[in-house]
Amino acid sequence: MDAFIIEGGNPLQGEVAISGAKNAVLGIIPAAVLCACSSKIDNVPDIKDVNKMIVILEKLGAEIYREKDTLIINTEKPISYDVSDYEEETGQMRASYYLLGALLGRYRKAIVPLPGGCNIGDRPIDQHIKGFQALGATVVIEHGQVKMEAPELRGAHIFLDVVSVGATINIMLAAVRADGKTIIENAAKEPHIVDVANFLNLMGANIKGAGTDVIKIVGVEEMHGCEYSVIPDQITTGTYMMAAAATEGDILIKNVIPKHMEAITAKLSEMGVIVREEDDGIRVIGKHPLKAVNVKTMPYPGFPTDLQQPMAVLMTIAQGTSTITESIFESRFKYVDELRRMGANISINSRTASITGVKSLSATKIRTTDLRAGAAMVIAGLIADGETKITEIVHIDRGYENLQENLRNLGAVIRRVSEKDPACL
Ligand code: UD1
Repeated sequence: MDAFIIEGGNPLQGEVAISGAKNAVLGIIPAAVLCACSSKIDNVPDIKDVNKMIVILEKLGAEIYREKDTLIINTEKPISYDVSDYEEETGQMRASYYLLGALLGRYRKAIVPLPGGCNIGDRPIDQHIKGFQALGATVVIEHGQVKMEAPELRGAHIFLDVVSVGATINIMLAAVRADGKTIIENAAKEPHIVDVANFLNLMGANIKGAGTDVIKIVGVEEMHGCEYSVIPDQITTGTYMMAAAATEGDILIKNVIPKHMEAITAKLSEMGVIVREEDDGIRVIGKHPLKAVNVKTMPYPGFPTDLQQPMAVLMTIAQGTSTITESIFESRFKYVDELRRMGANISINSRTASITGVKSLSATKIRTTDLRAGAAMVIAGLIADGETKITEIVHIDRGYENLQENLRNLGAVIRRVSEKDPACL
């Protein structure tokens, strides 16, 4: 297991370019199997979850070529609809559930293990299943596998009980190949939903309304390959914005879509950080002391739950008492103990964390509890006085491309060390 060692106290300075959006590409790659065709996808980040998804598709029979950030996915030869043997790969990420919608759409059948992903609370997939059932599938869950079959896949009117990113994309993936019209109400509106819909439309699908809470899909019989470039990652962008703010740095973040960052820009500005939209990016200038703010996580365009943990780190050194209310995932405060070990003053009451700023965080050994908590730990290490060791960074590798190199280019003192599993000593 690798660890990061960070010598804190260096303001980030310079430029960083953002890679493609993890949560978009993890919907787009399965979408590419919806027809017997070949698609070229650019701006694909080199991260563990993407690499795992590629391995799963190859095992199913797809031919995949990768050169730098370009992926060619060829499914001209039939691929298997049965993913049950690849539980090890699917169990390590959330997005493996998109194979359900994509394989159901193409083959009217799918067997896919229940997904894994970050341990941040109860993560049912009942809304995905409700959608598939409405489209005509019978769904059985046994021995950890979701087994679906739909002799006929037909359009349906689906009202999601909760706003779910995963269910919205998954239902779109199946509905594009159903007979007739599907309407998804109370749909999620995240930028990656629009990105997956744009990709599907380029493949010949007929989706309208992605990005609003009502998505209308008219099923098509034929789809074809296409060329597509994935949008930049909103959460990675936000992570660098917060790292710059926390270190009192001054950075230009390139290859971003500023519109996607509005909730973050607004909160950082409220804290006294200077955030400027420039020609080809967003410039962030940290100004201390940071002011305390209140944040509530909400579906897009609200403040993203995936940036709740990095935001908490900023609050640990802001003047006054800030609050974060986590309204999406009930167990997303597991990382708080690690910040307390660094001297942060945080109390949790149900879904709200109250954080009273301290003068500085003190370096120690901390661990990452999940992907975005990992990003938070890195920011904490960047501002701590002394040397912080962050263990279990395997979580970070799932979603951040070249984090250590990028931070080093921005002036951070960070290195990766390999740790032997103590059990093997
Ligand atoms: C996706 C993202 C994750 C992000 C989250 C919220 C991927 C691979 N992951 O996760 O990074 O943190 O969106 O932006 O894109 N829910 C149900 N039933 C369901 C589905 C969801 O009750 O069938 C609930 C969840 O428990 C949660 C809320 O709905 O409280 C939102 O979940 P959802 O948007 O589906 O998140 P994920 O797709 O798991």
